[in-house]
Amino acid sequence: MTNALELRKLHQFFNQGTVNERHVLKGIDLKLAPGEFVAVIGGNGAGKSTLLNSIAGSLPVDQGQIKIEGEDVTYETVAKRARLIGRVFQDPQMGTAPLLTVEENLSLALLRGQKRNCWSFGVKKKQRQFLQEQLALLNLGLEDRLSAEIGLLSGGQRQAITLLMATLQNPALLLLDEHTAALDPQTSQIVMTLTAQLVAEKQLTTLMITHNMADALKFGNRLIMLDQGQIAIDVAGAEKAQLTVPDLLALFKHKSGQDLTDDRVLLS
Ligand SMILES: Nc1ncnc2c1ncn2[C@@H]1O[C@H](COP(=O)(O)OP(=O)(O)OP(=O)(O)O)[C@@H](O)[C@H]1O
Ligand SMILES: [Mg+2]
Repeated sequence: MTNALELRKLHQFFNQGTVNERHVLKGIDLKLAPGEFVAVIGGNGAGKSTLLNSIAGSLPVDQGQIKIEGEDVTYETVAKRARLIGRVFQDPQMGTAPLLTVEENLSLALLRGQKRNCWSFGVKKKQRQFLQEQLALLNLGLEDRLSAEIGLLSGGQRQAITLLMATLQNPALLLLDEHTAALDPQTSQIVMTLTAQLVAEKQLTTLMITHNMADALKFGNRLIMLDQGQIAIDVAGAEKAQLTVPDLLALFKHKSGQDLTDDRVLLS
């Protein structure tokens, strides 16, 4: 079976060759089977966002190889990779255009990766129906708000729509970088549950960075902990299912020889 994602000896440096050189990813090897839902945790500066940026192409790769569904994309541009990747970031303002309506935003997401826009009236009606069905999946009553300006919606609603936009075309890979961190705890849980539901329904291969250890244990079939640019912990299936937060902290200490000292991780 072809891996949904394969990283081979991925290295990433910042300011290479200067006194400020930082070796941020140190030979990451990672294979994700289709449909795997992986929670990614790790302290501040561990390299989590750098990893996702490298996979998405927003950071050119310094060394190593990236394959998505068997295709070598290591040197492809962000735009070219976008047909394979859906992304959601932390800031609910970033994923949607505030002055456009819900329908217009979703239509833009539908156009992604397509060359022409030539909807006839019949197609448009069908498209509206499809978008309404998709919005209904969110269970937020948004299917009746197609003509509402996105800027008028709450952060949670916007993040739910961003998530829907990112998954509308069933991407080969879904990349989430702390996508619930800016939401209040209750809304965060709604969006997390929605994430799990969309991932399961569409069988999406997903990498989800979170600072919330409880979420990392609760969601996904696999958990990876990055530490100083390397994968320190990689657990899946039954082994992951029985882990607790104290287990995870102990495991981290065992692997890295030190306590995890990131306040955000420990307090969440
Ligand atoms: N553009 C850049 N130039 C120089 N250094 C950078 C750059 N981007 C990130 N870094 C450094 O690389 C390291 C990894 O950063 P990264 O953003 O990947 O960490 P992270 O695990 O996502 O952390 P956080 O939990 O704070 O989001 C950090 O030390 C950071 O300061
Ligand atoms: Mg980050």
